[in-house]
Amino acid sequence: MSSVVELRGVWVDFGGHPVLEDITFSAAAGEFVSVVGPNGAGKTTLLKVILGLIRPRRGEVQVFGVPPWKLGKQRARIGYVPQVEEVDPRFPLRVLDVVLMGRYGALGLGRRPGAADRHAAVEALKLVGIAHLAGKPLGELSGGQRQRVFVARALAVKPELLLLDEPTTGIDPAASESFYELLRRIQKTGVTVIMVTHDVGVISRYVDKVACLNRRLVVHGRPEEVMADAALAEMYGCAALFFHHGRAPHMVVRPHSELREGRR
Ligand SMILES: Nc1ncnc2c1ncn2[C@@H]1O[C@H](COP(=O)(O)OP(=O)(O)OP(=O)(O)O)[C@@H](O)[C@H]1O
Ligand SMILES: [Mg+2]
Repeated sequence: MSSVVELRGVWVDFGGHPVLEDITFSAAAGEFVSVVGPNGAGKTTLLKVILGLIRPRRGEVQVFGVPPWKLGKQRARIGYVPQVEEVDPRFPLRVLDVVLMGRYGALGLGRRPGAADRHAAVEALKLVGIAHLAGKPLGELSGGQRQRVFVARALAVKPELLLLDEPTTGIDPAASESFYELLRRIQKTGVTVIMVTHDVGVISRYVDKVACLNRRLVVHGRPEEVMADAALAEMYGCAALFFHHGRAPHMVVRPHSELREGRR
């Protein structure tokens, strides 16, 4: 199987209510896939299923060809950037220490980081373009710089699969775009990237595939296919309009309030 991530007919319940229904989803080696959908659509849940943190009630999940809860040490092949981490401005750790924390999974408990770990951490910081901030306390960074630190932490294990949950929240549009450029550079090194985002209009320029999730997978395909799919409207429970702006497809989503009457 050439897919790094493969879900077939996956159902997840919380408190007796389905949160994910019959999800069939895949990401091939080296692909950049974005997952979009409204709040509560199950996007974070989907990432947790891929990480093996949540086991579905029904269906099959394979990551690197095995169920993710059986990955064991191979879990280190996955880098994870969780949804926004609030950072206390007094947070004492320096950037390099935070990135080194990413190595602990690979190290095993009780082992102290050595020269190779420091090297990997510095390389990860270089890759995300903030090596010069290595000695700064995390609490003194801007939101965008901090997101890069968390990506560096995930990259420090040299993952083959990188999962990111809304990594550009609170980052200005220009910085978001340079962040997507960064992810594309990471992808070019052979890493499979799955990113949850609300940045629907922009990401289509960067990714290979878009998965629109609203409890069910509404559409899953190349950005231009997804753009052409009227089912997108269903995803937001609203009319999603696409138009082409130069060569880059854009999407306009009307506010929920305008369309709520149309919902079930
Ligand atoms: N641990 C949990 N226990 C019970 N319900 C949960 C749990 N985690 C998530 N849910 C519910 O599952 C649904 C999907 O949540 P999830 O966090 O996956 O959504 P999301 O698409 O990531 O939303 P957002 O865009 O707000 O981050 C929501 O209705 C949420 O309330
Ligand atoms: Mg979420």
